[in-house]
Amino acid sequence: MAFEGILLGMGNPLLDVSAVVEDDFLNRYDIKLNNAILAEEKHMPMYNELATKYHVEYIAGGATQNSIRVAQVSFSLLHTPNNTPSSILVDPLLRWVELLCMFCQWMLQIPDATSYIGCIGKDFFGEEMKKNSKLAGVNAHYYEDEIAATGTCAVCIVGGERSLIANLSAANCYKPEHLKRPENWALVEKAKYFYIAGFFLTVSPESIQLVAEHAAAKNKVFMMNLSAPFICEFFKDVQEKALPYMDYVFGNETEARTFSRVHGWETENVEDIALKISAWPKASGTHKRITVITHGVDPVVVAEDGKVKLFPVILLPKEKLVDTNAAGDAFVGGFLSQLVVEKPIEDCIRAGSYAANVIIQRSGCSYPQYPDFK
Ligand SMILES: Nc1ncnc2c1ncn2[C@@H]1O[C@H](COP(=O)(O)OP(=O)(O)OP(=O)(O)O)[C@@H](O)[C@H]1O
Ligand SMILES: *[C@@H]1O[C@H](CO)[C@@H](O)[C@H](O)[C@H]1NC(C)=O
Ligand SMILES: *[C@@H]1O[C@H](CO)[C@@H](O)[C@H](O)[C@H]1NC(C)=O
Ligand SMILES: *[C@@H]1O[C@H](CO)[C@@H](O)[C@H](O)[C@H]1NC(C)=O
Repeated sequence: MAFEGILLGMGNPLLDVSAVVEDDFLNRYDIKLNNAILAEEKHMPMYNELATKYHVEYIAGGATQNSIRVAQVSFSLLHTPNNTPSSILVDPLLRWVELLCMFCQWMLQIPDATSYIGCIGKDFFGEEMKKNSKLAGVNAHYYEDEIAATGTCAVCIVGGERSLIANLSAANCYKPEHLKRPENWALVEKAKYFYIAGFFLTVSPESIQLVAEHAAAKNKVFMMNLSAPFICEFFKDVQEKALPYMDYVFGNETEARTFSRVHGWETENVEDIALKISAWPKASGTHKRITVITHGVDPVVVAEDGKVKLFPVILLPKEKLVDTNAAGDAFVGGFLSQLVVEKPIEDCIRAGSYAANVIIQRSGCSYPQYPDFK
């Protein structure tokens, strides 16, 4: 099948431990809403407190893995004959039901359009992670660390907003040696598109470099995400090293502004920043760099070749909003599902908005198991 393995993601597979908490909980652990950070010493008791005192949900997560899973599912959904993305977006919910049925059949035909690489532990959570990828049809090649436990990410939700505290644990043990093994490098050779969230810059810049150079040499498409203000700020050097290879840069408004400040650009204007990121020198000349910045409910900003385009999102009544966690990841997933079949950028953005819209009506980055339609 022509699409098999066309999209490869590499990142930190994490088990999201999600719970609704109170402001007091946030204060005690010194965490801020709408932020994503790495766990420190002071956060250690938090995971246990979440598990014992709150109603927690365990959901396979990790930014890249979420995007890849959504891409795989959307891919299966959207590439059915007679179903162009534009028709899907007419009435998302009705369409959703219809497509879900088709999706089950379609999955059987191309289960492996996407693949994913990252490191987990040899434990229960790791096993759950494997089952989850399989179920979504993602061809995951996990490196299994002998000692470290599968990474977790606390998702603390207050009033529909959330804070992420990642304990990378095994995810932090990924090694380029795993990537170089013939069975894994074969995934790189097969893929034509690569997506890596910025979070992976803290783990294995060498692995990123290997993939980036391969993509540049073979005229393939290499994509990364700014992912979090702390990446732009404290991993500036490794991010800059990867930037020339990036054909697409994703990010949200806050990340874009942090990037701008860290580079001394003296502009807070998201459109200007997107243009400047696109104009950053490139390692290979084949593709012009496209920068895609999301803005919550505001239009998505796309900068390419010195020009900016704005794309409105699908609005959602406030009472339907459950959890904006993973909206960004889902957006990227939907976007990628169209990009890899060479759809125009308008379709990519539409599919991204659609995927984000579905995800924010649910807890975590999970697709409905049954259509919620009565
Ligand atoms: N309240 C909302 N209503 C409708 N759509 C939304 C809303 N919030 C997010 N979205 C959709 O999700 C996309 C990404 O949102 P946003 O810019 O908030 O990402 P983000 O803050 O990076 O998300 P996260 O970090 O939670 O994954 C938007 O472009 C939009 O399509
Ligand atoms: C992260 O997880 C590991 C393994 O479960 C644990 O030993 C460690 O204490 C945790 N670190 C923090 C900061 O919570
Ligand atoms: C963008 O994402 C960051 C986390 O990386 C978060 O702190 C911020 O609130 C988000 N911004 C918007 C406008 O949603
Ligand atoms: C990635 O990019 C999207 C879309 O531009 C953004 O909304 C999101 O916050 C980013 N997130 C991660 C975690 O990589």
